Amino acid sequence: MGRIPEEIIAQVIDRCDIVETISSYIPLKRAGRSFKAVCPFHHEKTPSFIVNPDKQIFHCFGCGVGGNVVNFVMKQERMEFPEAIRFLAQKVNVTIPGDETPQAHHANNIRQAILRVNALAAAFFHKTLLSDKSPEAKNAREYLKDRGIDLNAVRVFQLGFAPRQWDALLIYLKQEGISLGLMEKAGLIIPRESGQGYYDRFRNRVVFPIFDTRAHCRAFGARALDNAEGAKYLNSPETIIYTKGHHLYGFHLAKQAIAEEDCVVIVEGYVDCLIPYQAGVRNIVASLGTALTVDQIRLLRRYTPRVVMLFDMDPAGEAAMMRSLDTLIEEGMEVRVATLAPGEDPDSFVRRQGVDDFRGRIAAAQTIFDYKLDVLTRRHGVQTPDGKAQIAAGMLPTVYRFPNELIKAEYLKRLARFLDVPEDALAKEYQKVGQAIGTTVTAHLHEPPAVNEARARAVERGLLKLMIEKEEWIPKVKQDLTLEDFQDTNIRTAITRIFDFFENGKRVDAVNLINSIEDAAVSRMLTGIVTEEEIAGDRAKMYQDFVNRIRHDRLKVRRQKILQQIQDAESAGNFARASELSQQFNQFIKYEGSKKA
Ligand code: CTP
Ligand code: MN
Repeated sequence: MGRIPEEIIAQVIDRCDIVETISSYIPLKRAGRSFKAVCPFHHEKTPSFIVNPDKQIFHCFGCGVGGNVVNFVMKQERMEFPEAIRFLAQKVNVTIPGDETPQAHHANNIRQAILRVNALAAAFFHKTLLSDKSPEAKNAREYLKDRGIDLNAVRVFQLGFAPRQWDALLIYLKQEGISLGLMEKAGLIIPRESGQGYYDRFRNRVVFPIFDTRAHCRAFGARALDNAEGAKYLNSPETIIYTKGHHLYGFHLAKQAIAEEDCVVIVEGYVDCLIPYQAGVRNIVASLGTALTVDQIRLLRRYTPRVVMLFDMDPAGEAAMMRSLDTLIEEGMEVRVATLAPGEDPDSFVRRQGVDDFRGRIAAAQTIFDYKLDVLTRRHGVQTPDGKAQIAAGMLPTVYRFPNELIKAEYLKRLARFLDVPEDALAKEYQKVGQAIGTTVTAHLHEPPAVNEARARAVERGLLKLMIEKEEWIPKVKQDLTLEDFQDTNIRTAITRIFDFFENGKRVDAVNLINSIEDAAVSRMLTGIVTEEEIAGDRAKMYQDFVNRIRHDRLKVRRQKILQQIQDAESAGNFARASELSQQFNQFIKYEGSKKA
């Protein structure tokens, strides 16, 4: 998919009503010309979140978020800009050219059709489970009750029951006008070996629909009521709309809580997710019995970087966990690992010990380092040289993957102490691991700030506000300053766009500006500027004051730069260069002094 043309973006924004869009997520209350709400992006009791229908922007005076309808969707749905535009385009019936090649169109139709079949199937299973008439369904309800799953959870997770009959779903879907081909594409029916006809994939099982983030049913997992009856779980095959490892069970229900608590608990199984959720732990999802994939991690990362892993306390769970950890670190997640007693899983633990103990375990989760060290020590023992080598071999790649050098150094030290081996021996092994992994480590050099950043930003922001307020300041700024004089990159982006508008004869107004800028941080800054109180005072004086201060800072930055170069030359032993630079510096000061006079 290519870039979305600007006029299409404009059209989408134009057709969306920000009040309508936002009020589909949170309740808005009218307050004069605007609307008010409790901000969905930070905790507050009194509403400081304002939606302005005239300007079609929102702004929160509490946490400073703001922007247009696209920025809202980006933040609320955790989408990137193009994704948010596509999301809104669909709502307001704008087709994005290029998205609609005939093949894409056809594929999209099939996807939609399968989603619909799945929705029908999920509804059928659910209705069957709750049906009073069928003794089978009663049996399934008993099963769920015995497992401690209450009726409310059955509804919330839309659990269902697939009857024993060979073709109950097939017949139902046929009545709904669904073709056999489509049912097969959805993975719901299987062709008979004889080559004649089909039968239902899921029979005599409790059904767990697997939803995507937007609560569309992508696939099903189905559990046998009786452990003797074939595989414990049967799942949908991969289909056009379902790839294993792309989804997380329960995510559509948990996402709000995950964002609010800024933390997600990841368990393995359906029931391990459901039981704690029902007991009030809402920020929980299940990976569905495999190691976490990069796709799943990226999905979560939109909501929080903080993960608590809580896998089954059996060898399979431990193995899946160990495989997940390095991926999680590489994806920059902050991971902790919670443990239960051997043989337990979250489902059994919550039912036996209660949810408070469960929360306690989550709170007491260990760092990856400690967890992995425990597991490896249990496996190999720390007494023998061989055991030490095994533990080091397991730990070093993990340490290597941490993005922070200080953390790496600290862990290496701790590992050496724990294994009771010399640090430099461990460091040698570590380097071998590094070469094997082959990641390059880049050092970041931070220059010291030359001027007080907060003050500089306030001045630059003031100037920007003037330019948005009245166009007459734009050519003046162009003449008096250069873009490089602005230290703040967001402000620079905004000013670049203002100059661009101005030169092309486009009206510079806040809304146009906000709508034309993709960067959420810049739009947020702009909405902040236009929604805040007007500053009182003489504009011309203000302007001159701002410009003077920016010029002053510019000199400071330049002086600082030369001084830094002198220092560098000196510490490199290049005294000739240092003295040359010193002369330049003196001339520079003299020159600037004479200009000021
Ligand atoms: N799983 C699967 N197919 C299987 C076994 C397991 O898809 N044949 C997945 C399921 O998502 C399951 C998870 O792996 O929930 C964890 O497996 P396991 O611990 O064996 O099952 P539990 O979740 O404990 O299942 P239950 O509590 O229902 O016995
Ligand atoms: Mn279980």
